[in-house]
Amino acid sequence: MGEIFAAGLLRAGWHQSDLILAVRREERARDLHHATGIETTLKLADAIPDRDVLVVSVKPKDVPVVIDEVGSLVDPEQTLLSIAAGVPISLFEEAMPGVPVVRAMPNTPSAVDRGMSAYTVGASVDETHRELAKQVLSAVGETIELSEDLLDAVTAVSGTGPAYVFLLAESLIEAAIREGLPHHAAERLVHETLRGSGELLATSDKSAFRLRGEVTSPGGTTAAAMHVLEEGGFRALIEDAVQAAAHRSRDLGERASGQ
Ligand SMILES: NC(=O)c1ccc[n+]([C@@H]2O[C@H](COP(=O)([O-])OP(=O)(O)OC[C@H]3O[C@@H](n4cnc5c(N)ncnc54)[C@H](OP(=O)(O)O)[C@@H]3O)[C@@H](O)[C@H]2O)c1
Repeated sequence: MGEIFAAGLLRAGWHQSDLILAVRREERARDLHHATGIETTLKLADAIPDRDVLVVSVKPKDVPVVIDEVGSLVDPEQTLLSIAAGVPISLFEEAMPGVPVVRAMPNTPSAVDRGMSAYTVGASVDETHRELAKQVLSAVGETIELSEDLLDAVTAVSGTGPAYVFLLAESLIEAAIREGLPHHAAERLVHETLRGSGELLATSDKSAFRLRGEVTSPGGTTAAAMHVLEEGGFRALIEDAVQAAAHRSRDLGERASGQ
């Protein structure tokens, strides 16, 4: 995710010299430098001074390690932007009093500048810090500010969301092939249908329910398909999946906070 952000910032017009990437393995440092041209360092402490924004993009369990290592070096003039799933702002604020912290949940379509990030701001964040964090997040897509108690739900919906869509794509492609379509045609039909439907949904003033209704005539082909999905418990399954992801997000956050 950190690499996706770095590449997105470059596409958005930031210069390589505006950025530095801190990693922990030499091979990763080499690969990242090769892929982006951005300076890399194996010493986290070297990545802190003179930076307006510090993006924390390690797994939730590694957040306390990073805080222990460099928390004391962070200046309250800097903005800390964490994208670690489930990790509460309080974990950073307790270790770094006065440091403005923004917690965000992006998603992988950020890789093609179509990301969706929800974010929430900590007690020391003023308009300048908020704008800086938004600038970083907006480089790869859209943003929405929400209260922190909603971020586990966000993780389950838009953070995890691409996986729901990819599973749907896999299933549709497999079904298409079983109906006799050649693999390349099945893939193309499914990819473009998902892209087109997503675009239609995002740009239309009609709800998903209305748009679905427009494809569904009584007794028709779509009605037959919808009947099977409804009878098979599609909605309940999605609800359970989202609930499980939200639960896991809370769990990861609690573990990172040592609760
Ligand atoms: N993937 C998603 O869809 C997504 C979406 C939203 C938010 N997030 C959040 O984004 C964060 C990163 O996720 P990811 O999927 O990008 O994980 P990832 O691929 O494992 O990336 C984390 C990177 O951090 C490095 N790292 C760990 N500890 C470090 C340390 N002490 N110093 C320097 N580097 C360190 C890891 O190094 P190694 O390569 O050596 O392990 C790895 O390269 C997570 O907190 C996740 O919850 C992910």
